Amino acid sequence: MEDTRARITKDGIRIYEDADFAGMRQAGRVAAEILDMVASHVKVGATTGQIDDFIREEIERRGVISATIGYKGYQHASCISANHVVCHGIPGSPIPASKHEKTPRGNDRLVDGDILNVDVTVIVDGWYGDTSRMYIVGTPKPFAMRLIDVTHEALMRGIAAVRPGNTFGDIGFAIQSFVEAQRMSVVRDFCGHGLGRVFHAPPNVLHYGRPGAEAVLEEGMFFTIEPMVNLGRPETKTLSDDWTAITRDKSLSAQFEHSIGVTATGCEIFTLSPANRFHPTWG
Ligand code: MF3
Ligand code: CO
Ligand code: CO
Repeated sequence: MEDTRARITKDGIRIYEDADFAGMRQAGRVAAEILDMVASHVKVGATTGQIDDFIREEIERRGVISATIGYKGYQHASCISANHVVCHGIPGSPIPASKHEKTPRGNDRLVDGDILNVDVTVIVDGWYGDTSRMYIVGTPKPFAMRLIDVTHEALMRGIAAVRPGNTFGDIGFAIQSFVEAQRMSVVRDFCGHGLGRVFHAPPNVLHYGRPGAEAVLEEGMFFTIEPMVNLGRPETKTLSDDWTAITRDKSLSAQFEHSIGVTATGCEIFTLSPANRFHPTWG
């Protein structure tokens, strides 16, 4: 079994073979295609429960597997995190009142101006494709639009730092230095992760750090970069459902996630949007 011969670095990071890139490419494409299709389901009056139902049906229709259903007791095919929900928002659960809402809406129905992150992970032939992106309901507030742009740019700057010989600290620094120069903050309580034939593997991919810190990047490493950026303070708290993470100061939060593989000269993004819809204002 090739598994037993796989090289693992001293930091516990698996080095995959050339042929393994094909598996990740397939899994990443399926996840990205599903997120492309989600766009038309995000509108005023839709519910996050309906969006998750669509994602579950689409995963079934394609004959692939949801990595999140049954993961640590999680029951849904996606995480849908609206407004000041940082990550792991549960589809179908009431959207928490933002600091701009006087009364809780008490349901999962989207209203004009909401922003949401939808995060999908599928397993295709044993390979994990994990990606998330932002969606806008109706007309966004200018500050929400700016948060989305900065978070997207932060991910792309992190990805631009990926090449053999650079370090994970270089990725974190590229993200943190950009975000903080925009007077926004990087969430510390959640990070990216190695993946491949498993969902979450070493290393923890921090979205903050110092140049040259952490493990050295090598060709064949597979991992996610998935920065969460807040308009206010970086601290989070988890609600009593044990999943939903919100900003402590109830400021707006955004996130984008790609799964990538390190190549000889840089990296390959496995979860590029086939319809070029990764950013909500594209396509
Ligand atoms: N897809 C998330 C990530 O980026 C993990 C979600 S786990 C779940 O790592 F159980 F909350 F779905
Ligand atoms: Co991830
Ligand atoms: Co994810």
